[in-house]
Amino acid sequence: MDKPNIRPEEYSNIVKSVPDGTFYRFPLQFVHGVPLMQPIANGWDKVEKFHARPDDLLIATYPKAGTTWTQEIIDCIMNGGDVEKTKRAPTHVRSPFLELCSPPPVPSGIDILEVTPSPRLVKTHLPYELVPKSFWEQKCKAIYVARNAKDNAVSYYYFDVMNKTQPEPGTWNEYVEKYLKGNVAWGSWFDNVLGWWKAKDQHEILYMFYEDLKENPKREIRKLMKFLGKELSEDVVERIYRHTSFQTMKENPMANYSSVPSNILDHSLSPFMRKGEVGDWMNHFTVAQNEMFDEEYNRRMEGSDLKFRSSI
Ligand code: A3P
Repeated sequence: MDKPNIRPEEYSNIVKSVPDGTFYRFPLQFVHGVPLMQPIANGWDKVEKFHARPDDLLIATYPKAGTTWTQEIIDCIMNGGDVEKTKRAPTHVRSPFLELCSPPPVPSGIDILEVTPSPRLVKTHLPYELVPKSFWEQKCKAIYVARNAKDNAVSYYYFDVMNKTQPEPGTWNEYVEKYLKGNVAWGSWFDNVLGWWKAKDQHEILYMFYEDLKENPKREIRKLMKFLGKELSEDVVERIYRHTSFQTMKENPMANYSSVPSNILDHSLSPFMRKGEVGDWMNHFTVAQNEMFDEEYNRRMEGSDLKFRSSI
């Protein structure tokens, strides 16, 4: 895994060379009932027919649940803790985004995956029901990371501000309503976390929580190592822990998305590595928003044994 599948500079040159107007805030289009950005909907056929390899590792999340952090930890583990090797390319090249599709000639997630040597680390935000069947036919392992709904909403709001390919978030108040209705890219947080929770007993799926990662990163790194069948010394765990801290990743151009041009991700509006905390929702929700949120939350989560922590 020490060579990048596609040269990072090659990728960013293609993205930079596209004419103005290629990227814009793409409207959402329903795919099997899930709103996805239009280019993803247009490229859906290829996603559905994707051929997984048995040693593919799926890293699945609802957007903003700690995907990039988990990708970084897993890449470290797969490289035996050699953090220099993880600097070979940016996250989206090292661990391609399965369903991501942009207007040509920008390579899609699948274009990158096709030239990626095994074992591949495949990122997805798809709800369980939309994951290509070949992953389960090939008995691939999957890691799902979930984050409490309120922090997830705040993080997604700021991401929609800075990600110029997703619909305008509107005001925070408007956003809370849209988010609760699932009227955002990749649809409902509830459907995503609950669907994967139900699926976790049918396949080899490790279901993790952002709050647990924050509370005790080394414990969670060890949990991931065990799931991946990798034995690494405590020194290596310590090295992975330091390399994947919020501050270190924020300063790492291969992990902070600074290589993506600002017509796609505009860090001057809000940095990708924003706060990385549990409980930031308390700085954003008004009492009225919180009550409305809780009411819908209780309705949607009723009867489920999936429990989240909104503070630690
Ligand atoms: P915030 O917006 O709350 O800061 P994703 O990778 O799924 O898009 O998730 C991004 C969120 O994870 C952002 O949350 C980001 O700051 C946070 N994050 C990324 N790396 C992290 C790390 N090493 N430690 C804690 N949080 C991290």
